[in-house]
Amino acid sequence: MTAHYEVRGAVAVITLDNPPVNGLGFATRAATAAGVERAEADPAVTAVVITGAGKAFSGGADIKEFGSPKALAEPNLLSLISVVENCSKPVVAAVHSVCMGGGLELSLGCHYRVAQTGTKVALPEVKLGLLPGAGGTQRLPRALGVEPALNMIVSGEPVEAQMLAMVPGQKLFDKIVDADVVDAAVKFAEEVSEKRPLPKVRELKARHPNAEAYFQFARNMVGGMSKNFPAPLRCLETVASAVNMKFDDGMRVEREGFMALMLTPESKALRHLFFAERVASKISDVPEDTPLRDIRRVGVIGAGTMGGGISMNFLNAGIPVTILETKQEALDRGVATIKKNYESQVKKGKLKEDKYAQRMALLSTTLNYADLGDADLIIEAVFEEIGVKEAVFKQLDEVAKPGAILASNTSTLDVDKIASFTKRPQDVVGMHFFSPANVMKLLEVVRGKATAKDVLATVMAIGKKIKKTAVVSGVCDGFIGNRMIEQYSRQAGFLLDEGCSPQQVDKAVEKFGFAMGPFRMGDLAGNDIGWAIRKRRAVERANMKYSASADRLCDDYLPGKRDAIPSPVVEEMLAKHREAIRAQKRDISDEEIVHRLVFALVNEAAHLLEEGIAQRASDVDMVYLTGYGFPIFRGGPMCYADTVGLFNVVQAMKRFAKNPMDDGAFWTPAPLLARLVAEGKSFT
Ligand code: NAI
Repeated sequence: MTAHYEVRGAVAVITLDNPPVNGLGFATRAATAAGVERAEADPAVTAVVITGAGKAFSGGADIKEFGSPKALAEPNLLSLISVVENCSKPVVAAVHSVCMGGGLELSLGCHYRVAQTGTKVALPEVKLGLLPGAGGTQRLPRALGVEPALNMIVSGEPVEAQMLAMVPGQKLFDKIVDADVVDAAVKFAEEVSEKRPLPKVRELKARHPNAEAYFQFARNMVGGMSKNFPAPLRCLETVASAVNMKFDDGMRVEREGFMALMLTPESKALRHLFFAERVASKISDVPEDTPLRDIRRVGVIGAGTMGGGISMNFLNAGIPVTILETKQEALDRGVATIKKNYESQVKKGKLKEDKYAQRMALLSTTLNYADLGDADLIIEAVFEEIGVKEAVFKQLDEVAKPGAILASNTSTLDVDKIASFTKRPQDVVGMHFFSPANVMKLLEVVRGKATAKDVLATVMAIGKKIKKTAVVSGVCDGFIGNRMIEQYSRQAGFLLDEGCSPQQVDKAVEKFGFAMGPFRMGDLAGNDIGWAIRKRRAVERANMKYSASADRLCDDYLPGKRDAIPSPVVEEMLAKHREAIRAQKRDISDEEIVHRLVFALVNEAAHLLEEGIAQRASDVDMVYLTGYGFPIFRGGPMCYADTVGLFNVVQAMKRFAKNPMDDGAFWTPAPLLARLVAEGKSFT
């Protein structure tokens, strides 16, 4: 049973019960409709209350049903709402805690609504690139007023019920209560049980004194703010039809809009992201009920760029941190940077003074390893040199308490090797943060050969606690993100050889939606870092082809400058470089630029999947969306490849392979990619 039925006096109470948030899945819908019919048929019942068990009235659609035929099975949500609205006895919604999406739409089909203070009310469909599809766009403007309804539908953000009740003339809530909402709703139902006709939101008028001007103004605002996403404007036009049309005609407009948005790549991308985020924390061979290790105190080794940012994550989450360095000056510098970061947040009004003080009070520093003896998790962020790591992990092995998790933030070194410096490789794991570590969402959790399952489970959980998107990666050079970006950068280099300017490449990539093109990113990170890595790899991988153009760029590097300044020197240098390598300059389209860069990511990712370094294609997408500025509305490289069609991706790769300036061998489709094309399948 996913909805309960009971009778209190003369009032039937139907309680949705589908944990965790009473999603309106098929069984719940059917049981609710059956409850209304039963109340209707019982002469002893004079009114009905609908409420939700546990932590929500209803969070809306049941995500387990998303995209499956069950989501539409009758009674679908529209049919259920119509059963409720047409009930001959008054139906009162008793809303509390969470009343969102389909849950709010269901309550709008009731004749009355009683809400508990603090209830979060929202129509969040726009966040999945959709619009509310069960009458929300037509009923909310009628019940709440056009402007606040439009704000809620276009933003998707929750508003607390008592705030909405303050909107002049609103008919959304008949009563706001602090006490038990079901008791209050039953009492309210008794009071209105004789009242006829029953009030229906659909019969109200959605009015605005200057509708035309208002919508024009809103169109400009919303259009400007939602460039790459079609849903917000479509939401707006649908709300406009609540003002301009009869209810049933508006409902048709809503239906058409919903179906149209459902098919857009942007909505597919957002829905993909929604599920990818949820699934990323699951590890196939680590059971969900794996007991976690307790993390109460954290140690961080190294107070540099990464160590400082990493520490802030834990301080923000209320977890005490001790930072260890080799010299007092380094500690002082590190702590000063942390303070500076917090102070700038305080100045911008993003952090309260007392919170800042609380966080700093959780921070301590030391030069002595013995002070890390009570840490439950120790994260190393010292220089990227294996010898330095060895010394650190040997000392950690001496002082860390049994069961402490020893993590390395290394971005390129072998985590298995690092683990071998200790006598407890099962407790060693990689925690690869991205810079700035207190801002970037991505955390690659690097699973070594020996890493214990409960260590992994604990690190995934702590990742969530410090508000990161944690994705598991196996051990390899660069892990998921940087191993892929290397292929992307290589393509960017070849494009320069073939005649593109750095600005042209950046512009094409930024038009595609990336936050930053590869060369601007290089300027920001420091092109010399890439060069240093290429030099090291040139030794390790003598047979891998690289363009030397990026190395030439370093020759024109202004010390201390990180801006992307178009430079005539660079142009001249590239021209000379092309001459030296006898490259033919040709015109290259934006599409070719983008596809070579993105499909290079995709092909490398297919190898990562095949090798088991990445668990699933959607994990790769999470890495790129949260760590590399890949455009959200494209859903990540793998989702984008699926949208283009893997057959077409491979066709393009075959064309690229024929280009003598490129690395033909790289473009051989990864076995997994070839297999998926042969089977007519996609990554997701
Ligand atoms: P950094 O040079 O800013 O900081 C390193 C700090 O470690 C310095 O303060 C240094 O005094 C300290 N240190 C060196 N040897 C030590 C020892 N034996 N004991 C205690 N402290 C010691 O370097 P950064 O950028 O913070 O990098 C640290 C680690 O994080 C490296 O492994 C790096 O590969 C990795 N990483 C760096 C990223 C970045 O964007 N900077 C991104 C992700 C990982």
